[in-house]
Amino acid sequence: MFELARTVRRFGLPYMLRLQKTYRAGWDEMIRGHLETSTMHALLNVGLIDEMQKQPRVDIGEFAARANLEIKVLQPLCEAFYSLGLFERDGAAYSLSEKGRNVAEVLRGWLDVCYGYSEVFHSLEPLLRKQMVYGRDLYRRPDYVARGSGEMEQQLFFPMVNDILSARGFRCVLDLGCGDGTFLRHLCAQNPDIRCFGIDLAPAAVEEGNRALREAGLQNRISLRALDISKIDQVSSDLQEIEAATVFFVLHELLYFGEDVLLDFLKSFRRLFPGRPLIAFEAVRPPAEELRRNPGIAIYYFLYHDLTQQKPVDAATWTQLFRAAGFASIEERHLDFARAAIYILN
Ligand SMILES: C[S@@+](CC[C@H](N)C(=O)[O-])C[C@H]1O[C@@H](n2cnc3c(N)ncnc32)[C@H](O)[C@@H]1O
Repeated sequence: MFELARTVRRFGLPYMLRLQKTYRAGWDEMIRGHLETSTMHALLNVGLIDEMQKQPRVDIGEFAARANLEIKVLQPLCEAFYSLGLFERDGAAYSLSEKGRNVAEVLRGWLDVCYGYSEVFHSLEPLLRKQMVYGRDLYRRPDYVARGSGEMEQQLFFPMVNDILSARGFRCVLDLGCGDGTFLRHLCAQNPDIRCFGIDLAPAAVEEGNRALREAGLQNRISLRALDISKIDQVSSDLQEIEAATVFFVLHELLYFGEDVLLDFLKSFRRLFPGRPLIAFEAVRPPAEELRRNPGIAIYYFLYHDLTQQKPVDAATWTQLFRAAGFASIEERHLDFARAAIYILN
């Protein structure tokens, strides 16, 4: 206390208060997130968090030996997570605290998506200096993006579309840009009579999806293939039995390459699958001023899209594009709380 008073006398109260306020805000809102997220990604990727979700306590010495990890690195990471209240500690054993368990369970999808884009954020300086170009010199990790978005959408968005499909009694569904097929696996688990097809551009995501659906025993009900949905005419004859199609957070990826690319795809869909609805879930971009008034996840979401050849647009632009594609009926549900919307296009 004496030393603190002495320091305040030396530097002045306003200066000391400014340091305290800015350190607290800067560390809590900025620097801490960077260090904590990197640590969490490493612990997830080496399997410690999964192990902690399965076992009540994990002896990290034994875990390090089993997984061939450097204990001198693992130990301080675990100690820091203990200090942050994410882990509990009992001798050499660590476990997830309630806060840590919630993060591992609820935030896992976002953490995976964030890891999927991490190389982009680590490469901002060469990207700024024109030494690297996204899409040429680096790319997001498609398997993590697909898995993460599936895990995250599983919490609200997939069940919402499942409800729409079930209410209308559709038995055969095509998911366009299906990632690792999480939505289709969920759909089959909820509806024993349904059969599904999925298409995604990323072979890594499809490979992971095929592994997951074999594990779930769904190989006779779900068929996934790696293909650009812009080339859907190449496979449309195999898909004529579909009664409806879904597309979750993919149209903004096509839109980056031009309105004509998106419109060509939408028009092909209408021509190849007449009378079959397309249910599109899309991000709806608010103006930057609105995000400044109500800051949240959306700021980061739109930032990583802007850096990686994606173009989410506002609600009026989505509607205008769907009209331009010739859909006669456009049913819209605006989920403003999630900066997203569901469009049922016929
Ligand atoms: C944000 S992820 C969404 C994945 C999944 N629909 C979901 O909601 O969890 C976007 C997906 O669209 C896929 N994609 C992007 N462009 C595509 C295209 N032209 N054809 C097929 N898939 C595409 C990507 O590979 C990625 O898996």
